[in-house]
Amino acid sequence: MPAVVIVGAQWGDEGKAKIIDLLAERAQYIIRYQGGCNAGHTVVRGGETFKFHLVPSGVLYPGKSCIIGPGTVIYPDVLHEEIQKLKERNISVDRLFISPRAHLTLPYHVELDGRKEELLGEGKIGTTRRGIGPTYEDKVGRIGLRAGDLLLSDDLLLQRLTMIADQKNPILVGAFNMEPLDPRELFTLCEYYRTIMGPYIADTDEILADAVEQDDNILLEGAQGTMLDLDHGTYPFVTSSNPTAGGACTGSGLGPKAISRVIGITKAYTTRVGSGPFPTELFDESGQHLAKVGAEFGTTTGRARRCGWFDAVAMRYSARINGLDGLAITKLDVFDGLEELRLCTAYRNRQTGEVVQQFPSHIEILEHMEPIYESFPAWQGSVSHIRQYEDLPNEAKIYLNRLSELVKTPISIISVGPDREQTIMVEEVLPHNAKSSCLVS
Ligand code: IMP
Repeated sequence: MPAVVIVGAQWGDEGKAKIIDLLAERAQYIIRYQGGCNAGHTVVRGGETFKFHLVPSGVLYPGKSCIIGPGTVIYPDVLHEEIQKLKERNISVDRLFISPRAHLTLPYHVELDGRKEELLGEGKIGTTRRGIGPTYEDKVGRIGLRAGDLLLSDDLLLQRLTMIADQKNPILVGAFNMEPLDPRELFTLCEYYRTIMGPYIADTDEILADAVEQDDNILLEGAQGTMLDLDHGTYPFVTSSNPTAGGACTGSGLGPKAISRVIGITKAYTTRVGSGPFPTELFDESGQHLAKVGAEFGTTTGRARRCGWFDAVAMRYSARINGLDGLAITKLDVFDGLEELRLCTAYRNRQTGEVVQQFPSHIEILEHMEPIYESFPAWQGSVSHIRQYEDLPNEAKIYLNRLSELVKTPISIISVGPDREQTIMVEEVLPHNAKSSCLVS
């Protein structure tokens, strides 16, 4: 049963949306398994641009089932806006299903996110301020509200909201100087959320179990990236969920044996938004080139992304943590016009001089690491029109071969531009099956 996990292999923003969009054509089910509206996915389809925060972009294909899984956190207002915009463009959301187990981001989570960042001052995480951390905190603290709670009887829902207010108010008021939660007001808000989300809440476990039984193609879509993973990333400068491949199981309800392949999406270089150490970060003209030509601004917050050379130390770690079977390299065309390319093969500890091959567990150690580079000549002209691996300039092949060797993972897909056609498929990632259809316009 082909269930393919698509993970961001770096610090997020790797261009997952385009690859997911391409592969979704052959899938019957597309599942978003973690994160919330901190994610921003842009899909360019036939000259039209679609932006997604919560809904899997597979919704652009008629007839595909799109699931927002139990590992996600949903801000109902953002979801509603996204659904409305899709409807306005005549995109059907009839096959959108929301897990009753997914947690809800409520307005106080968003406010709390901002207050916490302000309190941290210089040491702030640089969150998207979408309430993600506080929502997951409440989930772990067992005082969250889940999508399925909206469908409880009025009495039970009010009971739950009263329990939440009782537990949260001393903290919101005492520690963060916020207004106390009023269970009645929350109830009124939830009545509204019930109307906008209710029709989509379904038993996604059952839906997925059927999919597995029927041997359907399933695509599991991660948001953010491996280095932002709560357990495996550059803690504490991470998000509050598990974007890594393990999160695909807990966040969807599929067991590990159902997963057939894991594909890591990575840019040909590296970017990061928010705070935290970034060994290959560039402050020179090459960095400016990557930012400008790569249009490195966040979809969700519009913040400028920090840019740097490809970090093979971080990526080797990422390949191991995710059990990557293949790499999808995006934005190779952004190198057009550069004279020299670099790959970071190892780190040198500035304090001790020691050469390090492993990605450190602590940012306090990572901060002391400087990159050791191999240098490569770039190509003349552009690669954006190329569709076959053989047609790439030799310089590109040498760079990509070395990258793949350093990361110890083969390359499955190369993207040379934002349009879906601007893709080199090195191997079949998801097989065609009888139910795959090419419904794309
Ligand atoms: P949060 O997820 O909003 O709590 O933010 C935590 C960290 O993850 C910050 O450094 C954010 O910039 C980063 N982050 C969250 N979502 C994304 C994303 O979709 N792309 C890249 N970085 C992200």
